Amino acid sequence: MTAIWSVNRQLFRKNAEHVKQNNSIMAVVKNNAYHYGLEFAVEQFLNIGIDTFSTTSLKEAIRIRNIAPNATIFLMNAVNEFDKIRQHHIQMTLPSLSFYYENINELYDIEVHLEYENLLHRSGFKTIEEIKEVLQHHTQNNNKRKMCIKGLWTHFGYADEFDVSEYDTERTSWLSVVNTLLDEGYHFDMIHAQNSASYYREQGVLSNHTHARVGIALYGSRPYKSISEFDIQQSLTVKGNVIQVREVNAGDFCGYSFAFEATKNNTKLAVVDIGYGDGILKARAQHEALINNKRYPIRALMMSHMFVEVDDSVNAQDEVILYNNNMRVDEFTFKGVGANSEQLSAMNHDSLIKEYR
Ligand SMILES: Cc1ncc(COP(=O)(O)O)c(C=O)c1O
Repeated sequence: MTAIWSVNRQLFRKNAEHVKQNNSIMAVVKNNAYHYGLEFAVEQFLNIGIDTFSTTSLKEAIRIRNIAPNATIFLMNAVNEFDKIRQHHIQMTLPSLSFYYENINELYDIEVHLEYENLLHRSGFKTIEEIKEVLQHHTQNNNKRKMCIKGLWTHFGYADEFDVSEYDTERTSWLSVVNTLLDEGYHFDMIHAQNSASYYREQGVLSNHTHARVGIALYGSRPYKSISEFDIQQSLTVKGNVIQVREVNAGDFCGYSFAFEATKNNTKLAVVDIGYGDGILKARAQHEALINNKRYPIRALMMSHMFVEVDDSVNAQDEVILYNNNMRVDEFTFKGVGANSEQLSAMNHDSLIKEYR
């Protein structure tokens, strides 16, 4: 018996279909498709009619190109490997004025999306004036082989936050950039800004936008709590097994460094074959595990094991669920364990058995 990370293909696809509805989605597949597996995820997304992908890594962009010869692939980080970008027909962000002027001659034939910095301050042009400077400089550039301006984009850093006004601020500022440029007659084949939270908050793709750039919802986790669990479903299961059930008495310390002190005699502890070495976060182990459809408290977390306090109904070889559609990653996000993507990224795909069912 070994702990297993598994994905139900049918549920993964059904969820992605439900998230997409009839909207144009650019699927964010960075970090190995949120660790669901890049090839697996791209194939499922293609299957339900998503043919536009974005990632932050050129290596991943090329892997996507190998699976999807006709897809639109957008690289959200700028790189200087321009020949590879051309060779694999990858579209790329244009992240700043300095990048434009420094690389103007190397960018020929590359399709770029102008990036607006906004409140995240991670990348992008600082003002609409900077964007216009590039647009005008580009128009006046008579060089036959020059870059091609394909898109306009930003990233909302606050769409997942509800108690502050920053989302409104970044949204208003961005819409003003988009609408001013369109009113002045500029055209972009692609305009995109929304992550999962913004996509749900706006109930679809913002007007004048061609795509929403969605990640976590496609992978089955809700970006915020008031979205119904039926609207976004988790296809991932992470589970271990009870190796043995042991009894300890009041005053016994169990686990490393006094991790848990039993307060009653005959306390039953299931020893489970999954731990932080498999990617279970310490904060996740403050909560429960699911055995035979019942929740039990996790008492101590070790590298390859955990203790779960159980009752007489639990036996060796019973399955111990850490995540499934009834014990979802997003539940623990909302309980403060860590972002959805943080919990997914913590999983150790070298130690867990990986299965697509
Ligand atoms: C630039 C960019 N766009 C879109 C997304 C997708 O966000 P989410 O997973 O919240 O949908 C991310 C994720 O971090 C991102 O960095």
